[in-house]
Amino acid sequence: MTTLKAVRGTRDLLPPETALWNRIEAVARAVFARYNFGEIRTPIFEDTSLFARGVGEETDIVSKEMYTWEDRARAQSEKSQSLTLRPENTAGVVRAYIEHKLGETGQLQKLYYIGPQFRRERPQKGRYRQFFQIGAEVIGPPSAGSESPLRDAEVLEMLATLLDELGITGWTLHLNSVGSSADRARYNEALRAALEPIAHTMCADCQRRAVTNPLRVLDCKVPEDQPIIEKLPRIADHLDPESQQHFAAVTAALDAAGVPYTLNHRLVRGLDYYTRTTFEFTHGGLGAQNAILGGGRYDGLSEALGGPRAPGIGFAIGEDRLVLTLQAQEPDQNSAPRQAADAYIAPLGEAMNAAALSLARELRHTGLAVELGEGSFRLKKSFEAADKTARCIVILGEDELQSGILTVKDFSTGTQTKVPRAELAVFLAEPNRG
Ligand code: HAM
Repeated sequence: MTTLKAVRGTRDLLPPETALWNRIEAVARAVFARYNFGEIRTPIFEDTSLFARGVGEETDIVSKEMYTWEDRARAQSEKSQSLTLRPENTAGVVRAYIEHKLGETGQLQKLYYIGPQFRRERPQKGRYRQFFQIGAEVIGPPSAGSESPLRDAEVLEMLATLLDELGITGWTLHLNSVGSSADRARYNEALRAALEPIAHTMCADCQRRAVTNPLRVLDCKVPEDQPIIEKLPRIADHLDPESQQHFAAVTAALDAAGVPYTLNHRLVRGLDYYTRTTFEFTHGGLGAQNAILGGGRYDGLSEALGGPRAPGIGFAIGEDRLVLTLQAQEPDQNSAPRQAADAYIAPLGEAMNAAALSLARELRHTGLAVELGEGSFRLKKSFEAADKTARCIVILGEDELQSGILTVKDFSTGTQTKVPRAELAVFLAEPNRG
């Protein structure tokens, strides 16, 4: 029989690596709390049209990377429906904002999420078909200040703080403005016109994109195309005065807060909903997939999904890439030994197993970390197992059970002590033991 494996592009996360994932998530939650964000959890699958309308039919994500299936009706009252595993979470959050009429509160909604996303991409280091994002969205009616450039700057400043607190060094913030949707449309036409006479000299992808989606030409990495791309029209020259002012206010606030950034006029991003500010944080240690996170403003998304006017800005961090970055920076992260348990209880004989479970329960209720042995083990095997997992071994045999005095050996000092059962928890919890 062939052995089953995790599906291509998916993977298992095991201890001790999961401890690093948990640490990252704990730091993110703590930072988000300080900026007054609350957690949102949206479903992992949604109606396919949410992504077609939200992310954009022409994008790579929607046109070729989604996991979509037809969910057949199971009762007459149900309709069959096309469903999709979420490839990203912004569209879902905005759908929830509309569905729960969060705009009617008149307040700015500051929501964060942590969870899996799914894209059928070609797997490679840092690129998976199931990957995890830590993201956040700030969205609300314009009267709540949702359009203000201060929101953009605050989100970027929060990201700089989060990466610093995680201990990620050497990140670069790339910043751009793609203007209003009218600016983008004008720029698209200017690019199309500029590309028409020269596209045939470029790579095959650029030739195709020059016709279907000229903005994507700016993403091209083929070295021979770079001098041509550098001479193409720039979006900065196609922004209306409001978008220019908005962007100037974002950069002024970042300057004042001391958050470093690099202007990158080629940063247009691969999702259709963006307006004005767009950004990515990259890290040199990641190789080809060097974006740790991406995001931007999406002032028209709510309306595109049939909701009220609700400008917003947000980001999503690729958690898999954060982990890779930290592992590359601190190679010991993964080999760190698992935290040793406080005690290993070794029942002497299977007849002692039930009593051992009771003792373990008692000690665990006091907050101690306890590993439970098995009565069929010889004493030598118990000692070996205990030495690998715990700081102390507690021997539990007939005599101990009857006398209520237990033998405890501390592996770090090598000392063996007789401890009355009533004092065992306090004895094991003593500071400096082990
Ligand atoms: P995105 O740029 O498509 O934006 O993804 C954000 C981040 O997710 C990327 O920078 C990368 O770190 C990670 N990522 C994307 N695809 C993969 C993959 N296949 N494997 C591993 N990591 C990946 C969004 O998803 C937007 N929803 C961000 C946003 C929120 N914009 C506004 N609000």
